[in-house]
Amino acid sequence: MQHETQVKLARQALHLLDTKTNCLADTVVHNPVANYIDPDRLRREQALLFRGHPLVIGASCQLREPGDYVTDDFSGVPVLAVRGRDGAVRAFLNVCRHRGAKVAKGCGRIKRNFVCPYHAWSYDTDGRLVGIPDRASFDDLDPAEHGLVELPAVEKYGLVWVQGTPNGAFDIDDKLAGMGAEIGAFDLASYHHYETRVIRRKMNWKIAMDTFLEPYHFGVLHTDTVAPIFFPNVYLFEPFGANLREAFLRRTIVELRDQPEAEWDFVAHTAIIYILFPNTALVIQADHVEIWRIYPANDKVDECVMYLDFYVPEPAVSDSAQGHWQRNLDLLLRVVETEDFPTGETIQFGFASGAQDHVTYGRNEPSLAHFETAVSQALAAD
Ligand code: FES
Repeated sequence: MQHETQVKLARQALHLLDTKTNCLADTVVHNPVANYIDPDRLRREQALLFRGHPLVIGASCQLREPGDYVTDDFSGVPVLAVRGRDGAVRAFLNVCRHRGAKVAKGCGRIKRNFVCPYHAWSYDTDGRLVGIPDRASFDDLDPAEHGLVELPAVEKYGLVWVQGTPNGAFDIDDKLAGMGAEIGAFDLASYHHYETRVIRRKMNWKIAMDTFLEPYHFGVLHTDTVAPIFFPNVYLFEPFGANLREAFLRRTIVELRDQPEAEWDFVAHTAIIYILFPNTALVIQADHVEIWRIYPANDKVDECVMYLDFYVPEPAVSDSAQGHWQRNLDLLLRVVETEDFPTGETIQFGFASGAQDHVTYGRNEPSLAHFETAVSQALAAD
């Protein structure tokens, strides 16, 4: 993050703490419960937000070398993104043109070509069909017509976005609405992928997103885990189009008062979260980066699946580095898996009970209101 921005945000944060105030929305917002339980709305979210919108598929550093690839199965179509021999990242439907098997699984690096595990048709990193065993049996097939189907993809600001509809295009700067340079300043391309976890939960995908959208709950739900580290119920919020940036304040941030502004390191004293509309939370922690990508699952309103991508600043090659980051990851997972997500599942269960027709976001929860409103507006705009 640019130092000028860090100083501006640090001043705002200290002012909130000094005056015992908070970043407040203009009004209380009511959000219909139907938005979390209506199958028709979910279908529109899947079509418009997950297949009709560019989604982050990972950080550039995960595709560091030619042949590095990642896949995504959850946006509604099987996606494969790979760095080509020319250095460009391209994306394809991960569907073999012979009989449709996936040509790649998970993530990794291919030596030369993707080889379909079913009958070994092979494709290069540009998606061209370059090998057909028993070629004579397919004598009228034109390989040029049977490459992998390309998807629109953009690499910028250390991240890679892919849209799950062929023949489309998107302007990522238009989508980021001014947030790009700030994200780019974190130099995400210099990080190293440590691990990706897949987490499934019985709640609407937006309830999982809501986990990241207020610290009002820190002092209650996270009494012994997060609250000793972060100030509860106070944070910075700023919208960027449908996206947003928020900063949760570590209790150590008060130390900045004793330092000259030229030395202020706002990032070291916060957790900064960028919500990259619609389904990604880019979390800049003081010492590592998390990317949470959250999707509906199994076409059900009350199931979601998410990837947690964990990135570290240096390659974790030594045993001590491995141990350090594993403990860090385990602690993070313990908090969300035993505190946040079980609570989210109770919310989903309660929504289905008919107890109320709306939920209420206080003025101290502006991120929640902004995100849920942005989803509704995106659907209404179609
Ligand atoms: Fe891929 Fe047959 S389905 S080679």
